[in-house]
Amino acid sequence: MAAAVSDRIATLSAGRGLVFGCDYNPEQWDRSVWPEDVRLMQAAGVGLVAINIFGWSSINPARGVWDFSALDEIIGLLHAAGIRINLGTGTASPAPWVTAAHPEILPVGEDGTVFQQGGRQGYCPSSPLFRAYAADVVTRVAERYGNHPAVALWHVSNELGCHNALCYCDTSAEAFRGWLRDRYDDIDALNRAWGTTFWSQRYSDFDDVRVPAQALSLRNPGQILDFQRFSSDEQLSLYRAEAAILRERSEVPVTTNFMVTAHIRNLDYWTWAGEMDLIANDHYLDRRLDDARGELSFAADLTRGLAQGAPWLLMETSTGAVNWQPYNLAKDRGELQRNVAAHVARGADGICFFQWRASTQGAEKYHTALVPHAGEDSAQWREVVELGGLLDRLGEIAGTEVVADAALLFSWESWWAVENEGRPSEALTYLGQVHAAHRALADAGITTDVVRPGGDLDGYRLLIVPALHLISDADAAAIATAVEHGATALITFFSGIVDEEDRVRTGGYPGAFRDLLGIRSEEFAPLLPDESVFLTDGTTGSVWSERLEVTDAEVVASFADGPSAGGPALTRRSAGAGEAWFAATQPDRIAYRDLMARLAGTAGVEAHPGANHDVEIVRRAGAAGSFLFIINHGETGVEISTTGHDLVTDAPATGFVPAGAVRIIKEDV
Ligand code: GAL
Repeated sequence: MAAAVSDRIATLSAGRGLVFGCDYNPEQWDRSVWPEDVRLMQAAGVGLVAINIFGWSSINPARGVWDFSALDEIIGLLHAAGIRINLGTGTASPAPWVTAAHPEILPVGEDGTVFQQGGRQGYCPSSPLFRAYAADVVTRVAERYGNHPAVALWHVSNELGCHNALCYCDTSAEAFRGWLRDRYDDIDALNRAWGTTFWSQRYSDFDDVRVPAQALSLRNPGQILDFQRFSSDEQLSLYRAEAAILRERSEVPVTTNFMVTAHIRNLDYWTWAGEMDLIANDHYLDRRLDDARGELSFAADLTRGLAQGAPWLLMETSTGAVNWQPYNLAKDRGELQRNVAAHVARGADGICFFQWRASTQGAEKYHTALVPHAGEDSAQWREVVELGGLLDRLGEIAGTEVVADAALLFSWESWWAVENEGRPSEALTYLGQVHAAHRALADAGITTDVVRPGGDLDGYRLLIVPALHLISDADAAAIATAVEHGATALITFFSGIVDEEDRVRTGGYPGAFRDLLGIRSEEFAPLLPDESVFLTDGTTGSVWSERLEVTDAEVVASFADGPSAGGPALTRRSAGAGEAWFAATQPDRIAYRDLMARLAGTAGVEAHPGANHDVEIVRRAGAAGSFLFIINHGETGVEISTTGHDLVTDAPATGFVPAGAVRIIKEDV
């Protein structure tokens, strides 16, 4: 599988190793600009270009009117220049005539608001009308270009579900009922799954079920959870429908761009990944977060998890600021290179940008691009050309794999369940806990894979299980088995509480892991958002505490104050050949790092010497050799002991990494 994906990516790079690409929207420009675009693409080394993503209203401007002349011309120009094409199916946003003629296609929000045309992705994902029109567009595009020698990849729609994942219209409700009938078959099974005896919500017929639109009070969490599952499946079925049309007409690999990122949570990509010929992700630094680059590293590791360790493509990122956050910060000097290096270090074999040339009109005119408004004579453009050169020097890294002995278990279903309505504390967010664990690993110099519950745990000596709230008995048993066989596991609070139907396991928390951990907790005692508590080892904890006792475990530290004072906060149990640890609070940053280092020591997992919260170190290795990525995010230079050839400076490695610099060392063996 990994080898097949590497071959596909090698084809996209036209033999250069790593892919350097971008979205290209030539329809926004006069034809006279196009040859200039192609010249500049060649100058920078851009080899893969995504076009026709938002092409619908250009190729099909009115009912029954089709005009491919501009697309023909642009494909011809790119082909003549040896640039490969990542061809959009063109269905990302319906042309205005479609929704003007059929307003029933428009999506509806939780409160009944109909979202009007004028933005993008303005369609109900379940609309049969939308699907029929979209199928027509895809069929024509596939028939016209499916065998064109320049077309190297199919780009289905764009960021499916970015805006319209949750639609509450009548069509969606009908589709939801159909999905529920398939899932439960019998209405009593649905009643049991949703616990509908509560608040008189018992159904006698599937026809009476509605989507969980805005209600007066807290809503049924089972219904909300199933609506999330349904909505993710519905978007996946849009992908499937387009992919089927493409595969019938073309041999070219098919994918779509995922949004593995902090602010999009509606798609369960574990269920999507197997249907992609290669995994592609869009990622932008999210400056709204406390730790934007930590989130980048986690997202890249999760994307690699979706790719099952095979290389993947960063399908979109930005050279500098985006324009959709409240404060769109420019990147610092060298930050673009650091970001790109972090993605490659964590398994990307291609880096593509949104977009080629900065728009002068439209909603994204203040979004940075490869060619800025200032044009060629600009620091930004020179940085882009430099980046193209660097990616070329890194070519031999393509196809190597990231070296990791630890696995962090991640689940979109747990994300939905942790943050469902009526939870113990809003200070507990799923991603907050996942990021904190991932950052602690990074601070300790430990590279981790990200794995789905139920995924293959073989070979991992360290398992990190943060807030894995919803888990099946079988998936929990697999973690226990891995521990019995010698792994060290850290399970954190609010894990293992509910089953797949969001039903609490009784008899003491955390039901699914109680025996493995040798603990029994009777009551949650969450902390206020700014509250922290002391532990007996002098560290502090935040977000959570709970009242637990050990039944068959050692207390490593207890709560010294706060609502659970005197009770265990950190526990450890030997189980078979391994160890199972439990954290009942979120350790402070240093304590969490130290805990990860201690667990790694127990597990026999090696940390990268010299790595810390400012110095990111990751290794990729394979037939081409071993490559050590050192990214110094800090403000002072550091010495990292290494020998080999530095592909960034193209000189022997000195071991010194200046402040803000990246070193990528092909290591001496
Ligand atoms: C993505 C999208 C692109 C562009 C970009 C801006 O969500 O796929 O079309 O909008 O963001 O950052």
